[in-house]
Amino acid sequence: MRFLITAGPTREYLDPVRYFSNASTGRMGAALAEAARGAGHHVTLVLGPVEAELPPVDELVRVVSAQEMFNAVAARFGECDAFLAAAAVADYRPEVRASEKIKKGEGGLTLDFEPTPDILAEMARRRRPGQVLVGFCLESEDLAARAREKLAAKGLDLVVANGPAAIGADRQDALLIASDGACERLSGVTKADLARRILAAVQEVSA
Ligand code: C5P
Repeated sequence: MRFLITAGPTREYLDPVRYFSNASTGRMGAALAEAARGAGHHVTLVLGPVEAELPPVDELVRVVSAQEMFNAVAARFGECDAFLAAAAVADYRPEVRASEKIKKGEGGLTLDFEPTPDILAEMARRRRPGQVLVGFCLESEDLAARAREKLAAKGLDLVVANGPAAIGADRQDALLIASDGACERLSGVTKADLARRILAAVQEVSA
């Protein structure tokens, strides 16, 4: 199978030196890439700006912003059999990116934000029969209910849901929720364990 995997955060610049981002480390995506490659699959990894230790992959595409990640994914989506969206894509970006560094003034600073493109939702719209789509869901409350909503709203095959404690953690809890309603709870697993379980679930869906 051909796997397309996004990983890491994105950065949304408001001027040449300042940006909005998040604490994603890219390790979940790297673990997925390693598990898929280890099982003999072709792996393309689209990675936001992180210094994560990376496994060997067939193609590595480094991006910075949500728009760049969208473009990199859109150009490759048609070729893939499974799209695993593990990136923590910024949901908003500054409406304007100043060409010069914004000067410090006496008062406060107010910025307008606009939504970034939802990469996963758009790929779900473009999917062809047989392509498997997996999303991740990080919520601080009502995890299972929100994960089910996301699965339905984005038209996914599988959602991996976890809480904020999973960011950067060596061991974590996770819920795997499939479009047929099946829900599996994993406790205290490493990202490598979780990646192998996700891979098995993808293979079950595509079989
Ligand atoms: O809607 P929410 O951001 O919570 O959805 C999370 C899932 O959607 C993750 O799989 C993430 O990689 C993906 N996503 C995306 N593009 C965005 C926002 C989220 O692909 N702009």
